[in-house]
Amino acid sequence: MYRTHNCGELRKSDIGKQVSLSGWVQKMRDKGFMIWVDLRDRYGISQLIFDEQRTSKDLLNQAKSLGREFVIQIDGEVIERASKNQNIPTGDIEILVKNLTILNSSTIPPFTIEDNTDGGEELRMKYRYLDIRREPVKKNLILRHQITQQVRKYLSDSSFIEVETPCLIKSTPEGARDFVVPSRTNEGEFYALPQSPQTFKQLLMVAGLDKYFQIVKCFRDEDLRADRQPEFTQIDCEMAFVKQDDILNTFEGLIVDIFKKIKKIDLNKFPKITYDQAIEKYGTDQPDIRFGMEFVELNEICQHKNFNVFNSAELVVGIAVTGGNTFTRKEIDKYIDWIKTPQVGAMGMVYVRCNDDGKFKSSVDKFYDQTDLKNIAKKTNASKGDLIMILSGDKNTVRSQLSALRLEVAKNLGLRNSEEFAPLWVVDFPLLSWNEEEDKFHAMHHPFTAPKPDQIELLKTSPGSVKANAYDLVINGNEIGGGSIRIHDKSVQEQMFKCLGFTKQEAEEQFGFLMNAFQYGAPPHGGIAFGLDRLVAILGGSETIRDFIAFPKNNAGRDVMIDSPSKISPEQLKELKLKQDL
Ligand code: AMO
Repeated sequence: MYRTHNCGELRKSDIGKQVSLSGWVQKMRDKGFMIWVDLRDRYGISQLIFDEQRTSKDLLNQAKSLGREFVIQIDGEVIERASKNQNIPTGDIEILVKNLTILNSSTIPPFTIEDNTDGGEELRMKYRYLDIRREPVKKNLILRHQITQQVRKYLSDSSFIEVETPCLIKSTPEGARDFVVPSRTNEGEFYALPQSPQTFKQLLMVAGLDKYFQIVKCFRDEDLRADRQPEFTQIDCEMAFVKQDDILNTFEGLIVDIFKKIKKIDLNKFPKITYDQAIEKYGTDQPDIRFGMEFVELNEICQHKNFNVFNSAELVVGIAVTGGNTFTRKEIDKYIDWIKTPQVGAMGMVYVRCNDDGKFKSSVDKFYDQTDLKNIAKKTNASKGDLIMILSGDKNTVRSQLSALRLEVAKNLGLRNSEEFAPLWVVDFPLLSWNEEEDKFHAMHHPFTAPKPDQIELLKTSPGSVKANAYDLVINGNEIGGGSIRIHDKSVQEQMFKCLGFTKQEAEEQFGFLMNAFQYGAPPHGGIAFGLDRLVAILGGSETIRDFIAFPKNNAGRDVMIDSPSKISPEQLKELKLKQDL
């Protein structure tokens, strides 16, 4: 028998038992006549002791031949430790080894298998199987497993059925770029990997399945960031005979359940704000509402005072930083330098100090007297001891700059606490967004998203102003999920394609299968998809999804462990009828 127990379960109450354990050698301490070995498996660490006096010299010598990450099996007796280790659950006991079998040796690993390893990101990714032996990575994968199981349980208990949809599908120009797969049997033709199972889940509603979900891989050929991978996982859901509120209630229930079961946290009812409000108050459609510092428009107070920078701006907007008057001049200058970096791109920042004596001091005292500054303070709700930061410029640009500044200040003030969770629904997204380069509308979400019911007529006259029956779930400033009520009426769908600049023939070619299906009794339906990787990362207290994926790609989209993507052989290319020099 390889083991009677795992390495994490033996306690004081097991003292006296004869046990067998198997695992990896984490570390060794050799005192000559006595050797201690930390034996590790998925469940924890148990200390082994080899003692010349209590066992044998041969066994001690055998132990001396061990090295880091050797795989061993031992039999022995659980005894009380002389010096206890309060930091691990097995710290009261050790195992006096009576028999040792080396199951496999190991070359010296390229980095230490410790919580704080000396291995850099690239090296750890190359040897990901060793990285996963480390507690923090293993813990993240276990968390992912727990969340996935809980999602399946909740949805299944709520009558959703899990249906698999195909991975080899058809390329469409909407959304991100597709990854494509050449078809050997259909010369010159390609499959595409799904960016999401969107059309299939809608077809399942036409098919009458009523409530569908799938924990599913999606593929998008887009630029990578901490919260984006080229292949990622969605909790994809769809329901028939629902309105927006039915969807929000159902899936708020799912998220509340996950937080309760996994984190033992009771979330309050999620606030709901419109897209327009989010942009005005936070400069982004994925606001972090763990803290305040909401935007306040200051055009009325700040313009027409001889300060040309503000006078010529479309928007003057500020935030009040509670307690920010303690910032030194140097600290403020650092923020000014930061917002001028290309990643933010602002020209400068005006600030107003709210001093404890009730007076104000600003960087533009030349243009604004105490009354003006008092008005600014009043409008931004700033009190004594606060600092007001003001930016100006064209609306869209300045809002995104102030949004970046708001997050930076909050981070430095410790307001982005990863153990605090602030979810919200953002609703009423615009249906379409204008693409300057292509001189046409794009679907903000996707072409099957329904307009708000009272705005369908506007599609013909003013498509740019139409709001969609679409919603996002945002937690701590991250878009965790998004969805919409779908168009189920063929004529509205045709109108939508027209707005997107599809000719009848193009729409037919790309989405004819869906339009056809809609002729056979499509129920009203809608759904949502959550980014599982992002949800797990947030619950794990991080925003980097790579740490929660067993085998992720690096920032260049490469898997450095298996060295992919890679060239294929001339024979394969020939078989696929692809030219080598493409
Ligand atoms: P959407 O494109 O908003 O909607 O995607 C849903 C959620 O998936 C996550 N996500 C990603 N996670 C990691 N890496 C990526 N590259 C990535 N891209 C998206 C986000 C996002 O909120 N079919 C629709 C859903 C629907 O309408 O029901 C869809 O895919 O968390």
